Amino acid sequence: MAFPVVDADYLKEIDKARRDLRALIAYKNCAPIMLRLAWHDAGTYDKSTKTGGPNGSIRNDEELAHGANSGLKIALSFCGQEVKAKRPKITYADLFQLAGVVAVEVTGGPTIDFVPGRKDSKVSPKEGRLPDAKQGSPHLKDVFYRMGLSDKEIVALSGGHTLGRAHPERSGFDGPWTKEPLKFDNSYFVELLKGETEGLLKLPTDNALLDDPAFRPFVELYAKVAILWEGHIQRGQASMALGPRKPLKFDNSYFVELLKGETEGLLKLPTDNALLDDPAFRPFVELYAKDEDAFFKDYAAAHKRLSELGFTPA
Ligand code: HEM
Repeated sequence: MAFPVVDADYLKEIDKARRDLRALIAYKNCAPIMLRLAWHDAGTYDKSTKTGGPNGSIRNDEELAHGANSGLKIALSFCGQEVKAKRPKITYADLFQLAGVVAVEVTGGPTIDFVPGRKDSKVSPKEGRLPDAKQGSPHLKDVFYRMGLSDKEIVALSGGHTLGRAHPERSGFDGPWTKEPLKFDNSYFVELLKGETEGLLKLPTDNALLDDPAFRPFVELYAKVAILWEGHIQRGQASMALGPRKPLKFDNSYFVELLKGETEGLLKLPTDNALLDDPAFRPFVELYAKDEDAFFKDYAAAHKRLSELGFTPA
């Protein structure tokens, strides 16, 4: 089996659409939501029934209204008004996947091979095929295995959260995953590991020591040099007692852990943390945090697979 063949005119239109999308994404600064649109069109694929997938069905009112797609209307209207109106030959299915590929490229990510020829569908899958951010790794596996994707692809694709942020009015979550949410790099994995403090307790009052400018210099000082003040020692031992490394050792580790756990308001969804906890996922997180080239290579391959579910020769 081969990919569907598109004619030379169609290929020319794709090249022009690629340029339109580059300009649009730069002008509107909308790379993250374009990537999310591409992923949500593709991520409904069910390999056993060969339904869903990157077939443009996310444009159907019924599917756009699914809870997981909250906020995507804006990306859809950018694509529609700025590109589809000028290049009506191009299918929505191709347009959305091209937008995802361009979003990654223009923010500094890897080049992702794009093959055109997807057909549009008017049929939308039932609600509930996209992952639920409040769940753990069994759920992630259920959803991605249903698409035919692997553990490694789950971790690589989760790196898409290096772009963008959550919006309380859309998902109920808030904030970006990285400090530069318009740059595609491996910082999602770096921050994920940095934020890990292995189940150690942080009370709101502990975190208050980081936020208040009157307290913070002392935290930094005590973390650096093991000078202790008796009041802090008692707090430290009380906190550490619930999830200790060495709770019976009298040292300055309370302050060291407090600073380590600080990722400056960056978001961690339960599904993001699941990547740290599951032994099938964790080695890839560690690899991608260390080696950006490995992440880019695996991400580009996984993204291509996602964008071709149900379309690639089986
Ligand atoms: C945003 C969940 C996988 C790309 C979000 C948001 C949630 C979420 C809750 C916030 C939406 C908002 O409030 O605006 C998940 C879950 C995943 C997953 C549970 C399971 C692994 C992916 C994948 C990609 C991706 C595979 C792409 C390869 C994005 C992007 C945003 C986003 C770029 C930011 C959108 C913006 O800034 O408007 N995701 N996601 N996500 N997601 Fe995911």
